[in-house]
Amino acid sequence: MGEGRREDSPAKRAAVALAVTGVLCLAVAVLAGEAAYPWLKAAHVIAVISWMAGMLYLPRLFIYHCGAAPGSETSETFKVMEQRLLRIIINPAMIATWVLGLWLAWRAGYFTDGWFHAKLALVFTLSGVHGFFSASVRRFAEDRNRLTARQWRIWNEVPAVLMALIVILVIVKPF
Ligand code: HEM
Repeated sequence: MGEGRREDSPAKRAAVALAVTGVLCLAVAVLAGEAAYPWLKAAHVIAVISWMAGMLYLPRLFIYHCGAAPGSETSETFKVMEQRLLRIIINPAMIATWVLGLWLAWRAGYFTDGWFHAKLALVFTLSGVHGFFSASVRRFAEDRNRLTARQWRIWNEVPAVLMALIVILVIVKPF
């Protein structure tokens, strides 16, 4: 049993990746001047897609997890999948989405626009759903989930509906 090199945890690697992305975005913002806006908007959309992919897949894992007996190998595998999805994809992507989105809004002067207020309200709601899913990963890990597969199916639709409304607001800017 030698003192082999310790593997970095996936969550630590995700944090490093997020920090590196942050430094790159900062460099683009400082060095590129006016040209930075479309690049950082592209980075925002990439972060949004990653966040949403996780927010749509996690409740789907919860649905399948409901069908696995607590303590079974399948249940333990779902726990690892849920925790990794949350720590490696969903949490860093949400942070990147928020930071880049707020920078875009500040740069373009959107803080007084009606559509932006509506978008922010929906994004706060989405972030609340994120918090609920995150707490649910903890509850599943402790075999304390109380919701049925049917209830998780309904929760599965909530991020999708919020996403559709947010995208309409930011593209159409109806008010
Ligand atoms: C977390 C807080 C967020 C803030 C502060 C924010 C803010 C912004 C701002 C200011 C823009 C630039 C709009 C423009 O230049 O016309 C933008 C673009 C965009 N945002 Fe967000 N956003 C956030 C989250 C989200 C989320 C959750 C989604 C989707 C689910 C989203 C989808 C988009 C899309 C698709 C664009 C590109 C729109 C275009 O083509 O111009 N954003 N966001």
